[in-house]
Amino acid sequence: MYINNKKKKKDNYYPRLNEWNDDTIWGDQPESLAPYVPTPQPVVLEMLSVAEISSKDIVYDLGCGDGRVIFSAVELFNAKKAVGFEINPYWITSIEKKIIDKKLINRVFVYRKNFMEADISEASVVTIYLTTNGNMKLKPKLESELKPGSRIVSHDFPIHGWDNLNQKEKKPLGSGHKIFLYKIS
Ligand SMILES: C[S@@+](CC[C@H](N)C(=O)[O-])C[C@H]1O[C@@H](n2cnc3c(N)ncnc32)[C@H](O)[C@@H]1O
Repeated sequence: MYINNKKKKKDNYYPRLNEWNDDTIWGDQPESLAPYVPTPQPVVLEMLSVAEISSKDIVYDLGCGDGRVIFSAVELFNAKKAVGFEINPYWITSIEKKIIDKKLINRVFVYRKNFMEADISEASVVTIYLTTNGNMKLKPKLESELKPGSRIVSHDFPIHGWDNLNQKEKKPLGSGHKIFLYKIS
């Protein structure tokens, strides 16, 4: 069930924090293309490293969870800017607090929004940890909005029909995680 609250009336309604139930914690909302499962930090570092993030890059994490990818991109890889989209309100609140605490208001941004409805055209790097089916739904949007040369890094799930440029993919990280790298031509 999406929400058991009597106040639910509109299709785009999101539960407030005090209306949480088990479904909302797992991100089980109609727009969700993946449940919340965080990428282990060593895998985050490898994803950003594989993408060769530099100070020129604008990194978008589509479904940013607790924000570990966007904060790591800016703080550890010196990305110019990082933007996260997330439908789970809990993470939005916690990321907004971190942005202020870390004094990153000009470089890290988070939006409570379905990323399928977001403009992602400014991203030079997109990171995702969705599902194979979620990736297939996102693929046309990546193809139509991203500029040539933009990179896409996917944790664990490939984007079928595209060539994986990560040579290390056949040797998964110790824990079995896979990282797929693609480039828009
Ligand atoms: C597997 S988690 C990955 C979190 C983070 N990117 C990481 O790697 O640690 C997927 C996240 O995407 C969010 N999500 C799924 N579909 C979404 C959508 N259509 N728009 C925004 N966020 C979405 C979920 O709520 C969840 O937090």
